[in-house]
Amino acid sequence: MQVSTKPVKSVIITGGNSGLGYYCAEAIAQSGQDWHIIIASRNLPRVEAAVRKLMAETEYPHIEGMALDLASLASVRQFAQDFITGERPPLQAIVCNAGLQVVSDTLYTEDGFEMTFGVNHLGHFLLVNLLLPQLSDRSRIAFVSSDVHDPDKNTGMPHPHYQNAKALAFPMGHDNQMNIGNTGRVRYTTSKLCNVLCAYELSRRLKQQQSKITVNVFNPGLMGDTQLARDYSQAEISTLMADISPSVIEQAKDSKTMGGALARLILDRSLNHVTGKYFDGLEETRSSDESYDEQKAAELWESSAELVKIH
Ligand SMILES: NC(=O)c1ccc[n+]([C@@H]2O[C@H](COP(=O)([O-])OP(=O)(O)OC[C@H]3O[C@@H](n4cnc5c(N)ncnc54)[C@H](OP(=O)(O)O)[C@@H]3O)[C@@H](O)[C@H]2O)c1
Repeated sequence: MQVSTKPVKSVIITGGNSGLGYYCAEAIAQSGQDWHIIIASRNLPRVEAAVRKLMAETEYPHIEGMALDLASLASVRQFAQDFITGERPPLQAIVCNAGLQVVSDTLYTEDGFEMTFGVNHLGHFLLVNLLLPQLSDRSRIAFVSSDVHDPDKNTGMPHPHYQNAKALAFPMGHDNQMNIGNTGRVRYTTSKLCNVLCAYELSRRLKQQQSKITVNVFNPGLMGDTQLARDYSQAEISTLMADISPSVIEQAKDSKTMGGALARLILDRSLNHVTGKYFDGLEETRSSDESYDEQKAAELWESSAELVKIH
């Protein structure tokens, strides 16, 4: 039984009802650091089931579920409003973990943005911007990316293709419906590049404002035990597996181990002053060359602000 006192700080974990996010929440619950943990995801019954399971498995009581659909700007705004007006411990961490891959069709968010870019990047961009004023000075933000953002990594996935944010949001005429599986995978790898560009840009902006809020990026590597490939047919999974180098498959991790590594970005006191860095599991390393392109990052930031109407 975890001995817990009244929590003094809150952490929000998007997509914390399954996979990597669930185990990140579990590690934070077991840390003994007295967090109020908010599992924020799109399906409230699934969120509530995850909260019950987490509480039972960790015997940690300070876990709450909240509805957050990153495919709806109204839902993101409502979530932020509910958080701000609720009586919870001060916000000290946000884990932007939720993500999806769409390989069966071109789908759009409630606001008309391509779904992969809309959920993986734009929803999180708005969420973080709305909650920034709530974060105290020593807070931490973690963005979950993937090594598929890096063309130099042999992941079996197509390389990202970043032109500009608006082309990603409104892909009509920019994509190839003839091979929707590959198009969907490019959208995914590009959205994971956006996560890195966005995190580095936010880190630079906060530093310029003398803020001590840190922003880092996490790569869990390939995990075979999550729901991320739910939109793949069995045949597509087989094709994808055939494209992945055997060494990558051998090194595949489980979501419980990597959830613990992700939680470390929030918990580890030795990272108090570390910002704008990329963590491959527990190891700080370099991300792709393109992810350090400050012009691209600034364009992504400014265009995203326009798209979600926070100017
Ligand atoms: N699995 C891998 O090999 C791998 C590798 C590198 C990086 N990653 C990254 O790891 C992160 C977690 O993925 P995972 O592998 O743990 O997959 P997962 O089990 O599918 O978890 C993804 C989570 O995101 C939530 N989500 C999806 N769409 C959402 C929306 N519109 N609004 C709010 N929440 C939404 C899902 O909710 P539902 O349960 O309702 O669908 C789920 O809780 C993602 O960012 C992914 O890109 C995964």
